[in-house]
Amino acid sequence: KRPASSLIFIFGGSGDLNHRKLSPALYNLFIDEWMPEKFDIVGIGRRPYDNESYRKHLFNGIQQFSRRKDDQGGKWQVFADHVAYLQMDAEKEEEYEKIAEIVKIKEAEYGEHPNVIFYLAVAPQLVPGIVSKLGPLNICADTKCTRVVVEKPFGHDLASALELNKLLAGMFDEKQIYRIDHYLGKETVQNILALRFANALFEPIWNRNYIDHIQITASETVGVEGRGDFYESSGALRDMVQNHILQLLCMVAMEAPVSFDADEIRNKKVDVLHAIRKISKEEVHKIAVRGQYSEGWMKGQEVTGYRQEKNVAADSPVETFTAVKFYIDNWRWQDVPFYVRTGKRMADKETIVTVQFKAAPSYAFPPESAETWRANRLTISIAPEMDIRLRFQAKRPGQDLTLSPVDMIFSYQDAYEEHEPEAYETLLLDVMEGNATLFMREDQVAAAWKVIMPILEAWQQRPPVDFPNYTPGSWGPEDSEALIARDGRNWASLP
Ligand code: BG6
Repeated sequence: KRPASSLIFIFGGSGDLNHRKLSPALYNLFIDEWMPEKFDIVGIGRRPYDNESYRKHLFNGIQQFSRRKDDQGGKWQVFADHVAYLQMDAEKEEEYEKIAEIVKIKEAEYGEHPNVIFYLAVAPQLVPGIVSKLGPLNICADTKCTRVVVEKPFGHDLASALELNKLLAGMFDEKQIYRIDHYLGKETVQNILALRFANALFEPIWNRNYIDHIQITASETVGVEGRGDFYESSGALRDMVQNHILQLLCMVAMEAPVSFDADEIRNKKVDVLHAIRKISKEEVHKIAVRGQYSEGWMKGQEVTGYRQEKNVAADSPVETFTAVKFYIDNWRWQDVPFYVRTGKRMADKETIVTVQFKAAPSYAFPPESAETWRANRLTISIAPEMDIRLRFQAKRPGQDLTLSPVDMIFSYQDAYEEHEPEAYETLLLDVMEGNATLFMREDQVAAAWKVIMPILEAWQQRPPVDFPNYTPGSWGPEDSEALIARDGRNWASLP
């Protein structure tokens, strides 16, 4: 069933996120017949486009970034007729009347009041200004139909996140606010819940009795991709751990929900965040590692170091890599370490969750017959590989008793013919449908900041002395290996 009529305003309509992700997502939803019967998309920006040149600009994005890159036998033209551009200065209050005007016109055209969605795809420092000017518009008082979508980052630290939440709460009802974490829209991330809670197979062993430890890796080969100015005020911990990685950790560690009600799922996740062991500032150096990439070579190409990137300080203390060891203090996870790491300019792009089960209690096989730690392992590969593999020991054929690890693999590509939707397609459809399950509630955001604040504070007090400390194309600084090796374990990569 298609969602109700929707009018979507995109602040940052001439920006990068819209060009690469939002417009392609909406276009694909249109092709798949998920867009409402009646809809319009209004890109808001300062740049001087008219409707025609704006549509051209978006089509150019589709040709580069969409999973369907062509006009699909004329469908682009039909879609483009629903797209318009509104040039306005979002910092001027009087300009917001233009929005109210458009809503009125569309209402008359549709013959009904549509969902009115404001998507804030703008730099974080612009969000408070827009929210405070948008809020007073009459349409925003409509808690049923008017929604506001906020992109990460939600604040710069706990205090600013609370402030932003307060500002939003003064203007909108919590159920109107959709805080996006695009990882939650990924098929493979949602599938973690299916794997865990739609099968009776895994759940009985999904706990401290059978699991040795869990790892989450989100490595990227790209650098900061021209976003130096943004990244200088962020860093890997804020950019990836506070949101994406902690969300993944919640999916892996949460208790079974009794329903798929948005608040039920979010309650279960926030329970995990609250149970993460508080890190004292004194122990930060023992459980958290930071790194920054130097210049070097990747796949035969010379790449610049972080400090040489555009808009980055020559002595920048900002981390482009981080690894952290967390514990979750509850009955299920007591004393099971969760090792997470993320970084730019690393050897491979892979987002994977590794569940390492304990070794067999007694091993009658010749000890030299196998590297036991590599087996007993479930790897959930989120991206770019999309598969789940269970690795266990098997007897090699032959007269000798030799074992080696083998994989049982579920691959999306082999199992399904249909192409999976992009994360933003799923999330935008959810916003139109008014389903907030895959979005972050204010207390989740705050709880996630609380988890990482001691690390941020400790790092701020002690600027790094050894940056840059890893070369492009590596797996991060040596300290990262040491962090996990101290516990007698190794980082896992895709087999
Ligand atoms: C974004 C970060 O949220 O996630 C980027 O700001 C990062 O720095 C990106 O590159 C990674 O997303 P994905 O989906 O490519 O893993």
